[in-house]
Amino acid sequence: MPSATSKPASTPQALRVLFASPECAPLVKTGGLADVSAALPAALARLGVDVRLLLPGYRAVLAQLTERCVIAQFAAEAQLPAARLLQCQSDSGVPLYLLDCPEFYDRPGGPYQDESGSDWRDNALRFGLLSRAAALLGSAASPLAWRPQVLHCNEWHTALAPAYLHYGAEAPAATLLTIHNLAFQGLFEAELVAALGLPAASFAPDGVEYYGKLSFLKAGLQLADAISTVSPAYAREIQGEELGFGLQGLLSARKDRLYGILNGIDTDLWNPATDPLIATRYSAGTLAHKAGNKRALRARLGLADAPDVPLFAVVSRLTEQKGLDWLLEIAPRLLDLPAQLALLGGGDAALERGFAALARQHPRAMSTTIGFDEELAHLIEAGADAFLMPSRFEPCGMNQMYSQRYGTPPVVRATGGLADTVIDCAPAALADGSASGFVFHEASAQALFGAVARAADAWRERATWLALQRNGMARDFNWDASARRYVEIYAHLAAGSRLASA
Ligand code: ADP
Ligand code: GLC
Repeated sequence: MPSATSKPASTPQALRVLFASPECAPLVKTGGLADVSAALPAALARLGVDVRLLLPGYRAVLAQLTERCVIAQFAAEAQLPAARLLQCQSDSGVPLYLLDCPEFYDRPGGPYQDESGSDWRDNALRFGLLSRAAALLGSAASPLAWRPQVLHCNEWHTALAPAYLHYGAEAPAATLLTIHNLAFQGLFEAELVAALGLPAASFAPDGVEYYGKLSFLKAGLQLADAISTVSPAYAREIQGEELGFGLQGLLSARKDRLYGILNGIDTDLWNPATDPLIATRYSAGTLAHKAGNKRALRARLGLADAPDVPLFAVVSRLTEQKGLDWLLEIAPRLLDLPAQLALLGGGDAALERGFAALARQHPRAMSTTIGFDEELAHLIEAGADAFLMPSRFEPCGMNQMYSQRYGTPPVVRATGGLADTVIDCAPAALADGSASGFVFHEASAQALFGAVARAADAWRERATWLALQRNGMARDFNWDASARRYVEIYAHLAAGSRLASA
């Protein structure tokens, strides 16, 4: 691998960065990664970074972007087919490169799974192709005149790029790999190493091998020049056994190159004063108007318009990570408080069935909407009284920040980004004006119930509740500070130097 000095010289004002991701809102979204992939590059561009985005040309994405031109071709290699690079403009004005390979991406269903929810069987090749394209664009072999100084990879789907660069690329860009969720690692059979066009020698402990398998994420964590994750707390947690998902040893060994940078939120898209997707707009000064959203939400979901009953809500992937099995367990007690519950989400079939059954039993007090619905998500943020995120682990979490901005105090477990962004409604925090939600610690249904009951009590104390709402709405979760931190890291990487990781 050439030394850092052979990398292009950096000019901090016009750093060239290629941001590679498997999803980006509003084009293709399954979770917070899409929100980040839209808002962070836009914030970087505002700071003067010459940032461009690389995404797979999924069928659904191509259908939304009709103005595009072919700017490069990639030859087939091993079992990776030939592909084209298309250029388009994203909503934010950030230049968007789409990797067009109909054999891999022109399909119905989601980016990772088919319509029945099973992973696409060729995901290793689909995201190997994406990783390889990112690496090619970041090396002397690039078909483009524009060459990034830094390749910013996101999640396992692009984490093989540092390996492609390491094993044989000329003049490689520096690489940063951001972990959004360590639970997803891209683990495949060893035979795929050859199919992906990687040399046999890469299948080694200091390469892409992980306990006899090929791991995209391990490869990136091993070979990227720097690693980041999406909150300071999660950066610490993943170095331990409990949340390290087997990779804690490698992560601790690289801790001087591991940065925890809190995600920001798009404060234009998520703004109750201007949100076109909600029923009545409001701000901290006009919080009374929030009630119109509660009425609209209840009407839409068929919930009783009971005046003295708080409405709790969830918008989430339904997976083990999110701790919603605890919510299912305590839901009857929550409804008895009394309180109402509105859930929007999809994923685990048993959780879907459980919440749907409960809503059938209590149609006026509980509502379950299975599916993905951006508009309803906004109305829920605006119309609910409190938002629930009892996650077992949470790298960052976006909804607790959206909730605070919408005057909908979140009830969260103290983990990862939730611990970093929500301040518990304890007397001292109420007194100093920082309290913005309810935080519980123990990983159990009982602890969740304790926090929900505290929230329901606080909701009845109007002054306390108003203080919580106003404190949350005054919090500044915009991207500026975090985007500046990324620029700092890029600049050091491009110059081949090191930055303190704290
Ligand atoms: P994760 O990425 O782990 O799913 P985050 O809290 O970071 O969790 O981000 C989730 C994002 O996806 C938020 O923008 C949330 O509103 C959105 N979301 C999740 N489930 C749904 C759904 N069923 N319908 C609409 N939006 C959803
Ligand atoms: C992942 C995490 C979530 C984080 C999001 C964006 O999906 O589960 O906590 O907010 O990525 O970084």
